[in-house]
Amino acid sequence: MSFTQEYNNIKSLAKDELSAIERFITGQIDVRESLNKILIKFLNGPSKRVRPLLAILLMKSKGETLSEEQLEFLSVIELIHNASLIHDDIIDECDIRRGNKTIGAEFNNKLAVISGDYLLAAAMEKLILLGNSDLIKKVIQTVKQMCIGEINQDFDRFKIGTIENYIEKTKNKTAYLFETALVGTAILSKEKYNLDEISKLGLDIGTAFQIRDDLINITSTDKDKPSKNDLKEGIYNAPVIFGNEKDNYKTGIEKTKILLNNYTNNAALIIRNLPENEYSAALLKFLELLENV
Ligand code: FPP
Ligand code: MG
Repeated sequence: MSFTQEYNNIKSLAKDELSAIERFITGQIDVRESLNKILIKFLNGPSKRVRPLLAILLMKSKGETLSEEQLEFLSVIELIHNASLIHDDIIDECDIRRGNKTIGAEFNNKLAVISGDYLLAAAMEKLILLGNSDLIKKVIQTVKQMCIGEINQDFDRFKIGTIENYIEKTKNKTAYLFETALVGTAILSKEKYNLDEISKLGLDIGTAFQIRDDLINITSTDKDKPSKNDLKEGIYNAPVIFGNEKDNYKTGIEKTKILLNNYTNNAALIIRNLPENEYSAALLKFLELLENV
């Protein structure tokens, strides 16, 4: 079975929750045409919805039915993620995302910047309505970390740094949003959970996810995004760092896979402590999909 087929099987376990989240995400978008139509198309585009999906599976594995508040919160996470992608595609000079033209390519970068700002503002509005000041603080810190990840990445362009710096950047730009999705959903639960453990799970999965994304970028196996864009842009990720030279990235690929597996293995240890059911099994299956790159 292909990645997409296996992933869709996992996604089907959270079908109703994801549909509700998708309604919440687009419900608030109200700008001039024809941008409105394109923004809604982008938000409804073929997205993995991976952050909400993982949070839903985690809660369901613990026997929880997600509340409307938790689903609203996950729509905040998706809005932030989508806002960051619109800005990311300007930064990375990408014309294609999810198999479609980016907002910048469809219109221009001015409208893309403002569209990202608009989605971020929509996310903050929803977050504030949830009325949990700890959560507001956590989400805003995460957005700051995402910015710091991108700022550091830009300052370090065309430099081969250390793996430690690469992991730090990866956590900032990607893993903390995964972590916040999981921890935030747990915070909004009536049950008391071990938030440190959930935090570690989110960081491990988020880090593995980005290492995989970086590997795919360099090995150019994704039809829906431009290939080798990172190399062209001077963004030297794990394969280049392990290969110790830009043109030697192929020798760094195996070590990058081992690094990726360290994170999926750590995540699996935490998942194996969850109650055994189809949801925890789906989380383990998801880790397998990440490893198969
Ligand atoms: C994708 O990385 C980009 C991110 C994970 C984060 C981008 C963050 C920002 C632009 C700062 C925060 C901004 C807002 C509006 C919240 P990638 O380029 O490696 O992945 P890709 O292959 O999907 O493009
Ligand atoms: Mg990018």
